[in-house]
Amino acid sequence: MKNAVFYFSGTGNSFKVAQSLAKKLPEAAVYSIPKILNKTIPTDFATIGVVYPVYMYRIPKIVVRFLKTLAPQLKQSYNYLLATNGGEPGLSIKMGKKILKKKLSAGFSLEMPNNYIPFWEDQEEEKINEILSGFEKSFQTIITQIQNKATCLYQSPELFRNYIHPGILYKFGYNFIEQLGKQFWVNENCNSCKICVRLCPVENISMKDNLPVWKTQCEQCFACINWCPQKAIQYGQKTETKGRYHHPDIQLKDFIQD
Ligand SMILES: Cc1cc2nc3c(=O)[nH]c(=O)nc-3n(C[C@H](O)[C@H](O)[C@H](O)COP(=O)(O)O)c2cc1C
Ligand code: SF4
Ligand code: SF4
Repeated sequence: MKNAVFYFSGTGNSFKVAQSLAKKLPEAAVYSIPKILNKTIPTDFATIGVVYPVYMYRIPKIVVRFLKTLAPQLKQSYNYLLATNGGEPGLSIKMGKKILKKKLSAGFSLEMPNNYIPFWEDQEEEKINEILSGFEKSFQTIITQIQNKATCLYQSPELFRNYIHPGILYKFGYNFIEQLGKQFWVNENCNSCKICVRLCPVENISMKDNLPVWKTQCEQCFACINWCPQKAIQYGQKTETKGRYHHPDIQLKDFIQD
């Protein structure tokens, strides 16, 4: 294999992007970060890409752990990060640069549908369709740069929304992200199918009295709430009336961890 794409994904956006990269790069292999994190990470490739969703303007903690393990092993000349996000990538690429230092060749931001349901607005479904229909064009810009081994780091032009706001307001939240799993609860629609338990990438859900309970090592990937076939999982008080999201080309079976 010449090229590797590692990914972390809760609802399929980053997985879709990882698959799309692999289709365009010769002899490419795709690896799930949760499945490979505690094993020997293969690094014998000409290029390595890491695709992940932005959380609270930053990199998911599981991806930070992966990058810290990967960094000392990187020998190839072209390594890149690709941050999928809901339009506000914030400090994410900057954070990756701090971890990988000179070994990071490029960092890209790609807007995808926002899977953070509590913040959804009335017109969210229209917005989702608009973003999905523009995917090929925005993806093409990035893949061309990767094929040309462009060295460029995404920098947001918006000072307040992407630097000051996330720096001040969200630093606190990010530090306590694992605890936020306690915001999940389940309503009477749960049929005890255990799908949420099987798809959690960090074993943060277990069953008690035939109902799921959330522990305190949540990555906030929002896979459980978005994939639950009964829409029984809620987060705080703002999700019972809202829809659910997963990338339309991606199936639940790709997210089952066992
Ligand atoms: C807990 C959480 C926090 C998020 N924070 C941000 C954010 O700070 N900025 C942003 O643009 N999108 C944010 N998003 C949206 C995701 O980054 C975006 O929808 C991503 O493409 C989801 O990828 P996935 O389907 O591979 O999981 C957040 C999503 C979640 C679940
Ligand atoms: S996936 Fe949904 S229905 Fe199935 S056990 Fe979990 S909460 Fe209940
Ligand atoms: S509990 Fe839900 S949101 Fe948290 S890591 Fe597991 S699947 Fe993701």
